[in-house]
Amino acid sequence: MFLRRAFICALTALVGARAPGLRLPRQTETDGLQNMVTWDEYSLFINGTRVNIFSGEVHPFRMPVQSLHLDVFQKVKSMGFNAVSAYFHWGMHEPKRGEISFEGFRDLQPFFDAAMKAGIYIIARPGPYINAEVTGGGLPGWGQHTAGLWRTSNASFIDASAGYMKAIGTQLAANQITNGGPVILVQVENEYSGYQPPYTEDFAYESELKSLLRESGVTVPLTVNDAWPGGHFTDIDIYGYDSYPNGFNCSFPDDWLSGAVDSTEYFWGAHLQYSPQSPNAVFEFQGGSLDAWGGAGYENCAQLTGPAFERVFYKNEFAMSTTMLNLYMVFGGTNWGGIAHPGVYTSYDYGAAIAEDRTLREKYYELKLQANFRAVSPAFLTSRPINIFNTQSSFTGNQALKTTQVLDAVGNKTGFYVVRQLDASIDAVQTYTLTVPTSIGTLTIPILGGNLALNGKDSKIHVVDYEAGQSTLLYSTGEILTWATIDERDVVLVYGNSGELHETAFKFSSAPPAATVISGTGKIKTQVLSNNSLALQYTTTGQTVVEIGNNTLLYILDRESAYQFWVLHLPSAGAFAQFDTANPIVIKGGYLIRSVASTGNTLAFTGDLNSTHPVSFEIIAPGAFTSATLNGVKLSLAKTKYGTLTAQKTAVLPTVTLPDLSTLQWKTADSLPEIQPQYSDALWTVANHTTTINALAPLTPVVLYAGDYGFHTGNILWRAHFTATGAEEGFAVHMQGGAAFGYSVWLDATFIGSWEGDPNFADFNGTHAFPGGGLRKASTHVLTIVQDHMGNEEDWWAAGNDFQTPRGVLDYHFIGSNSTSVTIWKVAGNLGGEDYVDTTRGPLNEGGLFGERQGWHLPGFNDAAWARGAPTQGIAHAGVAFYRTTFNLNVPQGVDYPLAIALTKSMTPSNFRAQIYVNGYSFGKYVNNIGPQSVFPVPQGILNYNGLNTLAISLWANDAGGARIDSLALKLTAQIESSMGAVENQPLTVWTSRPGAF
Ligand code: GAL
Repeated sequence: MFLRRAFICALTALVGARAPGLRLPRQTETDGLQNMVTWDEYSLFINGTRVNIFSGEVHPFRMPVQSLHLDVFQKVKSMGFNAVSAYFHWGMHEPKRGEISFEGFRDLQPFFDAAMKAGIYIIARPGPYINAEVTGGGLPGWGQHTAGLWRTSNASFIDASAGYMKAIGTQLAANQITNGGPVILVQVENEYSGYQPPYTEDFAYESELKSLLRESGVTVPLTVNDAWPGGHFTDIDIYGYDSYPNGFNCSFPDDWLSGAVDSTEYFWGAHLQYSPQSPNAVFEFQGGSLDAWGGAGYENCAQLTGPAFERVFYKNEFAMSTTMLNLYMVFGGTNWGGIAHPGVYTSYDYGAAIAEDRTLREKYYELKLQANFRAVSPAFLTSRPINIFNTQSSFTGNQALKTTQVLDAVGNKTGFYVVRQLDASIDAVQTYTLTVPTSIGTLTIPILGGNLALNGKDSKIHVVDYEAGQSTLLYSTGEILTWATIDERDVVLVYGNSGELHETAFKFSSAPPAATVISGTGKIKTQVLSNNSLALQYTTTGQTVVEIGNNTLLYILDRESAYQFWVLHLPSAGAFAQFDTANPIVIKGGYLIRSVASTGNTLAFTGDLNSTHPVSFEIIAPGAFTSATLNGVKLSLAKTKYGTLTAQKTAVLPTVTLPDLSTLQWKTADSLPEIQPQYSDALWTVANHTTTINALAPLTPVVLYAGDYGFHTGNILWRAHFTATGAEEGFAVHMQGGAAFGYSVWLDATFIGSWEGDPNFADFNGTHAFPGGGLRKASTHVLTIVQDHMGNEEDWWAAGNDFQTPRGVLDYHFIGSNSTSVTIWKVAGNLGGEDYVDTTRGPLNEGGLFGERQGWHLPGFNDAAWARGAPTQGIAHAGVAFYRTTFNLNVPQGVDYPLAIALTKSMTPSNFRAQIYVNGYSFGKYVNNIGPQSVFPVPQGILNYNGLNTLAISLWANDAGGARIDSLALKLTAQIESSMGAVENQPLTVWTSRPGAF
């Protein structure tokens, strides 16, 4: 990962130096296959209308509760976005070669249906390679024993991937916009940008993948996501690229690179060089950050990429006329089961705008301002940055600022001026005036005196000759949130930081009308300019409403007030009703407003409230609407003097009583019977391969790579039988499991040592002394090793086959004796390996611990014979214990009360790992000595909110002194009155006898 990043940075510098190419733009359509989604050099068109694509990344497989997709999509939609970009996970859909599943939680139809219901377009990214911090980068486990260079055109790989590509292609085709579905674009591969030398870009591979998708019926435009604008895989309909300018170190969330903005400015030149005939498309722009084992935690990542980051960097993308912008991630979800690659832990919260528990961060509200502005600014869709490499002091004269002039090249009227700090890292405020050409000549703004100001780590978009309905804004330094023409009146909402000075000027065809403050305490200064223009100067504090004649209403807002506005649209009819943007309704107030509909003179809103204080609403809607409801409850409305409606409502937040996990009855059983003398491993897989396709030649007499035997996730156990020569003093072993992995070794029933893990080590060489100094000649013994499989590596370098980096025993020898040989090696992973038994929860849910093989983690397992014992009591020796308990939940309808299992760190003993199973679903891997995650959100639908729940925990003590979990609790992470759709439990199928379990 880090090597790869360094490589990208070096290349970025190189490419940045290149001059823009000379290819001429051309108008084009979509391969002639359909005409609903087309594009030109400026933007995408849907049904012939230009659209700004502002989308966020969501992965269906990271949210197994299918009935919750709608909640996430509605939240994305209400932010002003119109699309979601989604990876699909090959390894999840085809865990055994040739057995492809779109059943159960792998059924994608609920995902597509929810998108339609919310009015969200889908940019589908099926791979076959996706990266995405998932095990193997999405490549299936069976790739561990399938020959050929992966991610190339060699027949072996094409054969291997064709089945999945056709199957997913068929799913996507059926859900294309041309067939009444939400899919508008399909990405081929992902970051096919780095090739393991001597391999180079494989054009045959690219064309093979395109053909596979086309043959399965995909007709919408195909896209590419280059790892940086480096010109790879450009033979595609719409070429785009990635950018993560603030990096992935969440430890110092306020430290930005001083050149972070500059370092992305070559993008525009690269765009002109590589894809001048399609829009400037960034298919992944930093929306948060991943966090590694031992990392700083996702709240820090949310801060690193918080509202300030959003203002600077997303506006910088605006400055480069990026009319297709996708944020990775907008909702990260959970690496439940074995989804993660070793670089990340269970949570994939990502510090995104929508947190893992689906609550909204401040980032969300800032994004809402920017997305709504883009959505009502068609001039942006045909714009060009004019002075991209000459921005310092431009238009402001201030050397510490840079300003990009973005002009509408088609309408030839509107200008956007994106102002930001030259040094992205500093916090100092700069003052400036803006000297810009306008339709009435060059003006220096503010005209009514004073200065504009820009905080450090901030950016603003000032507009010139900007159309808002019938009104033309000659200019506005106050940023535009939205505008709407309602009952012939243009309502324009502008905002700035609290207390900032701004000016907005309107153009009129004759002498300007008077401007009067009609609501709020703000003051305005006005001045009539030449050509019938009227300038208003104001400071942005709270909310002030100004009436300008009869036809214009100006809302002047500070940022906090602006955050509270929602722009919704009355749905039209038919399957695409929720995509309609013709009839805006603006509403202020509430934690989330999801939707609006109308019947007669009533507006029916749905939304969520989280405050115990009364929430004030203001509705800006046509006067024909005289009544309104929120979640079906009639609002008591009053009318303002300027015709809008107001109401108040307080959230209804019922109290729920949660079970106290510490007082429940817990049962326990030993989950490492393998070390007992009477245990038989007769049913284990014999590790007897002498050849492997793996590039790493084994150092051991037989191959001891778990993947070669079909085990690709969770805990892996090894058994080595040997007869002693009498000289053995210990066992040295080189294990590999991926970053932060651990292992423990027993000689017969005696614990001889562990590696407790370290995020910086994917493998470890350990030496473990035998007890009593040695073994008796001719005595027979068995070594048992328990290890973690932290997920397969990603495979970022095409043709590198890094994802085959083995998990298992790389080497071993007996201390004191060269002649001892292991007579038989055996391996156990999840029961059945690629023929995994729990098809409800899928191939990555359970690992190879005895208790998991037996299904002890499942609801309904009969633990009556088990002893009493809780994980907070733990065990007093190295080993593995299993714990089970059950509890009831009774959470009323009409609320969203996300829950999490929260652990606290144990100080002594401290080296241990635990897995948390909720109703059989693996929703947490806790490593006490590494962290950082100790709170594990579990979505409703995995937790049964109205009935019985089973909680099972495995506890693996790495130390001779044993382990115990310090404390364990079920806690609410938010309390929200919610209009989200009913949540249906995923199948919580119960234990059934497992034939052949050992
Ligand atoms: C991108 C990649 C994504 C993801 C991201 C980091 O370069 O395309 O799949 O890995 O980096 O979160």
